[in-house]
This record gives sequence, structure tokens and C-alpha cells, in this order.
Amino acid sequence: MTPLLYIEQHRDRFLHELFDLIRIPSVSTDKTYLPDIHRAAEFLRDRLLEAGADVAEVIQTAGNPVVYGEKLIDPALPTVLVYGHYDVQPADPLELWDTPPFEPTIRDGKIFARGACDDKGQMYMHVKAFEILVKTGTLACNVKFMLEGEEETGSPSLPEFLRNNHQKLAADVIILSDTSMINNETPSISVGLRGLSYLQVEVTAAARDLHSGIYGGAVYNPINVLCQMIASLKDANNYITIPGFYDKVEELTSEQRQLLAEAPFDPAAYMAENGFYDLISEAGYTPMEGATIRPTLDVNGIWGGYTGEGSKTVIPAKAYAKISMRLVPNQDYHEISDLFTAHFQRIAPAGVRVKVTPHHGGEPIVTPMDSLAYRAAEMAYETSFQKKPIPQRGGGSIPIIPMFKRELGLDAIMMGFGLDSDALHSPNENFGLFNYFKGIETIPYFFQYFTEIMKK
Ligand code: BES
Ligand code: MN
Ligand code: MN
Repeated sequence: MTPLLYIEQHRDRFLHELFDLIRIPSVSTDKTYLPDIHRAAEFLRDRLLEAGADVAEVIQTAGNPVVYGEKLIDPALPTVLVYGHYDVQPADPLELWDTPPFEPTIRDGKIFARGACDDKGQMYMHVKAFEILVKTGTLACNVKFMLEGEEETGSPSLPEFLRNNHQKLAADVIILSDTSMINNETPSISVGLRGLSYLQVEVTAAARDLHSGIYGGAVYNPINVLCQMIASLKDANNYITIPGFYDKVEELTSEQRQLLAEAPFDPAAYMAENGFYDLISEAGYTPMEGATIRPTLDVNGIWGGYTGEGSKTVIPAKAYAKISMRLVPNQDYHEISDLFTAHFQRIAPAGVRVKVTPHHGGEPIVTPMDSLAYRAAEMAYETSFQKKPIPQRGGGSIPIIPMFKRELGLDAIMMGFGLDSDALHSPNENFGLFNYFKGIETIPYFFQYFTEIMKK
């Protein structure tokens, strides 16, 4: 039976299994969902066994469990390690969802739910692709699965897990689907990800909140100060002002920039789709480059003082913000976090005390385009889309991808089938049925081509 026919015959089940996985609210950023994290891991272990894995287990780590599965048919054949994450971001704000976040619903040809795309939908494509290969007797290489449950918190316990499991995870290449493609007519392969430094800052100006009439005019207001400090972190050209911030930033050649600019980009459609009134750009770069090959600094949240009903005349004692910096090759996130902290302390006026606490981070990564695995992925897309995929740098971060490179020496092929407009991390996250089934169709071709090329 051909893979396409197999998909057709099992289409409903492929969908309902994913729905069952989505119904488990495996939020990793909030400890109250820990039982669901474990349930999701066990669910995936069972599905891997059903799909044809010879071994599948839930492995405890210092953090959330890893689901490991394997089918090793011949040590002489190449081995593909599939990565994915079964944890999701919180669903809040709940009131902005049109249907409940953990009750998957199909509307307009899309699955709406938290995790529909990131990464349950995209990860499960691989489980089903594996099933197709096994059940149609077309699996021609060894397969391993490593599905993690703490990606959305920066995968803090995975460096240790990788260090302790070199043998178990040994492979020729890693494949995953946790990035996006350009659009449904324009397939692409992600060849880079940005790194991340995520910090919280706390500005204190007094021992207690103060009456804004009695003290206002004589004292430092920590919210005003924090706003000024944050505003000064970027200049009129959208250039980040932290000394040393750009020192190691990789500058792309004009050929590299041209290749990446082959991706069709329509600013008007981009703005309309997302409700943007205008775009920003760093002097000398396009907005698309700003979102992929250039580093950023953004406030993710800011709070302090009175935000309840009505008004309260008060000067707060403290103000807070969460700040993220997306990093590009060869910026080091510890170094950037240190530069930020030193600079933020330095620019603080005498009337405040500043505390900076790191949340998490990750390194940037670029993956090769001249490898056999990349060629096999290109051929897989050419077969299923009748188009050559365009290489694209992704703006997001997946901290384990550089860890794989560092710990295991393995490159990853990032075959994203979602779209940037799928509302990842937002209310009404969704994943097109077209995308889910196109991924399931394309992935088996990768296995076949990769095995053929490696044998030569
Ligand atoms: N799948 C995303 C990353 C992504 C999405 C990359 C789209 C490229 C295109 C991943 O789950 C994610 O959200 N990562 C976090 C990492 C952080 C929490 C350490 C991110 O980028 O914010
Ligand atoms: Mn993801
Ligand atoms: Mn995510």
C-alpha cells in the first residue's frame, strides 16, 4: 500500500489521536499541570508502541520526563532521531478564545486548540509518518524518538539528559517540525533559529508605597524611572544601545541576504493579517530581516503601582518588567545577559536600586544546507509540493537544537509545516488540516531519500 493511500484510510484516526493528545493540558510553565505533563508523556509512549516502536519509555529527568522510542532495524543502516515537544504554553487569557483551548475544534479547515501547532500537531505528524513507514513495510532505516516536556521553559534539565545519554541518542541526523513554512504554496526549511536571553528587572525607589500628593515632586517614581531606562535601550534607528551588544553579531554576506530574501514577503498582507498599523525596522535592514537575522530587545510585560478599578493616588515603591533579547550567531546568551545587567545597573539614577534576575535562555543556531540530510529534505518537499523548499531563518528559539549540536555533534533538519499566522502562544492557536496531512505525507519521503542517499 502506498503511504498516500494509507493516510486516506486512516485520516480520521490520525486526527482523533491528535485531539486526544491536545485534550491533555500539558502546560510546562505552571507546576499545577504536572500530572498532565506525565499523562501526555504516557500517552505518547503508548502511541509510539502502537505505531511500531520496539521500545518506548517515559524517562524521568531532573525536570519533566522525556519520551524515548526506537525501532532499530539494522546497525549498518543510518539512524534518524526525531525530536518534538509535548508541553505547551498556558492558554490565558481564556476569555479571548472562541472555543475552549483544550477542546480541539475544526473551523475553516483548521484545528483550533492550545498546542494544535506548537508542537503537538507538528510533533504528532512524525509519529504518524513513522506508523505509515512501519505498517506499509517501507521503513528502510533506524528511527529514534526523543519527545520532551519542558521546551517552553527553556529545556533546563536537558543538557544533563543529553550528556548522560550519548549512546542512546546516537544518530546520523535529527529531524523535527517546530518552526513555520512561508505559506501553503511555498514550502521552506528552517536553517537557523535565534537564541534568547530572558530577564526580569525590579526597580525599587522607596521602602513603601507613598501618597502621590504628599511626596510627589520630591521623590523618584520607580515606574517613571523604569520607563526611561527601558526607552533608552534603543535609539532612533532601532539600534540597541547596550555597549558590546553587537560585538559578536554575525554579519551576513549580500549573497546570503539575497538567498533569504527569495522568500516572498508582502508587507501589506503581513500588516493586514496581524492588525499591525505600521512596521519598524533597524536602519539598514528590512522588517523581515529584523524578525530573523538581527537581534532584538523587547519588553514582554511591565507592572507596578495601582492597576485596579478607578484611581488611587499612589507612588509605588517598586516597578517590574520582563525583558527578552533574541540573539543571532555568534552571540552568547550568558555574555549578553551579563552585558544587559551591567548596563542596566550603570544607567540607573542614584535614587533607585535595580535587581536583575535571569529567567532562562538559549543559544542561536545555524544549520548546514550542504548536507546529505538537507538534500534529502529538499527532495521530500519536491515530491510532495512539486516545489523546491526555500531556506529560511526562523526568528524563534528552540534551545535544545544548539544543545544537540554541542552535546551530540548532530545537525537538525527543521521541517516546519505550520504558519507564522497559526497564533502560537496566543488565543485561538490553530493548525491547518492541509498542513497536518501534508506534513504526514512529506516526512516519510525524507526517510526514504535520506536512506538512499546515505547508502551511496
Ligand atoms: N516552536 C517554538 C519556536 C519557533 C516557532 C521557532 C516558530 C520558529 C518559528 C518554540 O516552542 C518556542 O516557542 N520557543 C520559545 C523558547 C523559549 C520559551 C525558551 C520561544 O521562542 O520563545
Ligand atoms: Mn515549539
Ligand atoms: Mn512554543
